[in-house]
Amino acid sequence: MTVRLDFEEHGAGDPLLLIHGFPLDRRIWEAVVPVLAGRCRVIVPDLRGFGRSAGAGEPATGMEDYARDLFELADRLGLDRFAAAGHSMGGYVLLAMHRLAPERLARMAFVTSRAGADDDAGKRNREAVALRVEREGPAFLAEAMAGKVLAPNPREDVLARVKEIICSQPADGVAAASRAMAGRPDAREQLGLIQVPSLVLAGREDRIVPVEEAEAMARALSQGRLVVLEGAGHLPMLEQPEATARALI
Ligand code: MLT
Repeated sequence: MTVRLDFEEHGAGDPLLLIHGFPLDRRIWEAVVPVLAGRCRVIVPDLRGFGRSAGAGEPATGMEDYARDLFELADRLGLDRFAAAGHSMGGYVLLAMHRLAPERLARMAFVTSRAGADDDAGKRNREAVALRVEREGPAFLAEAMAGKVLAPNPREDVLARVKEIICSQPADGVAAASRAMAGRPDAREQLGLIQVPSLVLAGREDRIVPVEEAEAMARALSQGRLVVLEGAGHLPMLEQPEATARALI
């Protein structure tokens, strides 16, 4: 069963769907949306179990669940074909959308994301994270991740915003996403099947997805283009919103 996602919509023109990463919600795009809305119709949902979509329906069990929810939203909005950008876990969701219905994706952008799967240690860590979130909520993740997702010496207000967004996520949605990510397939071979213009946006200071991985991803895409933002970490849409919006445009 799909879940009816909560979303925002801004601007007019060609549609662009923005998919947030883990354990976050659509607010990560808040500084890029005003820039993008001058150029296109921006659709910004909260994934199942996150933000304002929390509590609606069963927890996700795989990336395909998130992907189906997004297609349901696109159907509701009357969108046959659209561009989509996924941040990190949002990129894993975008790859799942491509597996389900490639003909609906006009352009794709992978923002500090990757195509590979988790190794065994990574999978075990996902389960440990899920169990701990279920026990004590997401605050520990805010402490553990906030220092890692931004480039060194982040702006205080950006750091505070990231922590605020992580802390406000419901434990069940975060735990479900952690387990769902552990089960995602290795999609590196899939990249060669993506036949639309595709952006790979990387942060030079990203400590979660190294630039080398982004370079390999861009090379594997048949119409891939790499943009590396100097001085940005894993959350370029919050760290460098203007440059992120320009790259997406
Ligand atoms: C994200 O930003 O969505 C996560 O860091 C992705 C992951 O943990 O693989």
